[in-house]
Amino acid sequence: MTKHNIFGSLYWKMASTLLVLLVIIGGAYIFITADTVQKYFQEKNQRLNIELAAHVVQEVKPSFQNGQVDEASMDKIMHSMMAINPSIEVYLLDSEGTILNYVAPYKKVKLERVNIAPILSFIDNEGQEFITGDDPRNPGVKKEFSAAPVMESGLLAGYVYVVLASEEYDMAAQELIGNYVMRLGGKTMLITLVATLLAGMLIFWFITRYLNQITAAVRRFKDGHLEERVPVKSSGELKLLAITFNDMAQEILNSIEKIKTTENLRRELVANVSHDLRTPLSVIHGYVETMLMKTDDIKPEQRNQYLETILKSTERLKKLVGDLFELSKLEAKEVQPKKEPFFITELVQDVSQNHKLAAEQKNITIVPVVDNNIPMVHADISLIERVLQNLMDNAIKFSKDGGIVTIETHNFGNDVEVKVTDTGRGIPQEDIPLVFDRYFNLSKSISSEKANDDPVSKSSVGLGLAIVKKILEIHNATIHLTSKLNKGSAFSFRLPVYQNY
Ligand SMILES: Nc1ncnc2c1ncn2[C@@H]1O[C@H](COP(=O)(O)OP(=O)(O)OP(=O)(O)O)[C@@H](O)[C@H]1O
Ligand SMILES: [Mg+2]
Repeated sequence: MTKHNIFGSLYWKMASTLLVLLVIIGGAYIFITADTVQKYFQEKNQRLNIELAAHVVQEVKPSFQNGQVDEASMDKIMHSMMAINPSIEVYLLDSEGTILNYVAPYKKVKLERVNIAPILSFIDNEGQEFITGDDPRNPGVKKEFSAAPVMESGLLAGYVYVVLASEEYDMAAQELIGNYVMRLGGKTMLITLVATLLAGMLIFWFITRYLNQITAAVRRFKDGHLEERVPVKSSGELKLLAITFNDMAQEILNSIEKIKTTENLRRELVANVSHDLRTPLSVIHGYVETMLMKTDDIKPEQRNQYLETILKSTERLKKLVGDLFELSKLEAKEVQPKKEPFFITELVQDVSQNHKLAAEQKNITIVPVVDNNIPMVHADISLIERVLQNLMDNAIKFSKDGGIVTIETHNFGNDVEVKVTDTGRGIPQEDIPLVFDRYFNLSKSISSEKANDDPVSKSSVGLGLAIVKKILEIHNATIHLTSKLNKGSAFSFRLPVYQNY
């Protein structure tokens, strides 16, 4: 309802403004046409009768005596004029413009003197220019005229001044002009008005209809239909409005999605954390309780065994909390890599050295393949160390006695590849994409009963590869994994060579 009102009124406002404008333009058009047509008639009248006054002078030869025109001349003028055109008026003026006599039957003359200037210009340019002069019967009104000088014995005696359009002529002409112009203007205006109004209303309708659509879409979006979009069809500002709204809607949707994902992650994390914390905590709780209850009955070896189990559980707790903390920070994008140039080969050797003891305990050989021609890479050294540690941990953890773990580097021009290969149990093809998920623990999925007493599973939280993936992600690198079940796995990634410009 409201929606209709807003645009309904906008529509009518636009339409009525157009109507008013058209009426004003139409009025102006009629006025200009009437004025032009009248001027045209006047000029035409003057042109046709340029010579009239000169003819009168030639035919009648009026004689001026003592500032008076003789009656015989006046009669002659009267007769010829009445026969030709009774609507014209003939005045005889002295050289100053004073009216001496006139032929204007039954009419009242109000002026005693007419302005001589237009008469002089008319005679000067031989009537080639349209000039109007005084109408002695209507002071203030200008009329078209013809004029000629009257010479007597070589001297200027006065002028014959012929007003071409008498009042009657004018009235008749004006009525006709008015009639024609009104008819012409009226028709033209009506056609223009109807056509423009129709076109205008159609355009306005299109504009307001599109605005209506946009409003409806915005309204539906506001009411929770977040998939709502405005169809982008017109051009100009409205198209821009539609595109902007659509972009904004998408942006809002993306943000909501992001919030939802983060929220889901958070929930999952809390669930997993509480689950993972509960196991070692209940182990600790159980052993401590037993020891307290049987203080005197426990043999020293048994006590040591209990304490070792408690220690392992606390170690696991410590690792779990530490890894979770690290991963959360990485996922919240709180960690930005502090990139610096360093020799990856040195780091490889350090990490190999650090894992030597753990490897020896399982009779595993670490083979660092050191290539001295590897250039410096540009990355965060401590984060990359963490990646290598996790990969080496896994390689040793998931290898059997006598296995071999190789860590090597290759130069690919702009990149250096680091690869950790083991001869361990491998990963089933279908699980390859899953191992980088948090808490993915293959030991549980491969054999659940084995997993329980598997010392490996006890030290496995399932966050190591998720951390690896995140660290490489913030370095714009990806981890690559190839693996064959019971044959071994190879994890590799590439780092950019330090460009020393
Ligand atoms: N080199 C490997 N050989 C075979 N399986 C592997 C190897 N590396 C990882 N996996 C499998 O992928 C799973 C996920 O590895 P990840 O490092 O994320 O977790 P984890 O080693 O089990 O625990 P954590 O690293 O947090 O102590 C492992 O549980 C294991 O099943
Ligand atoms: Mg691991």
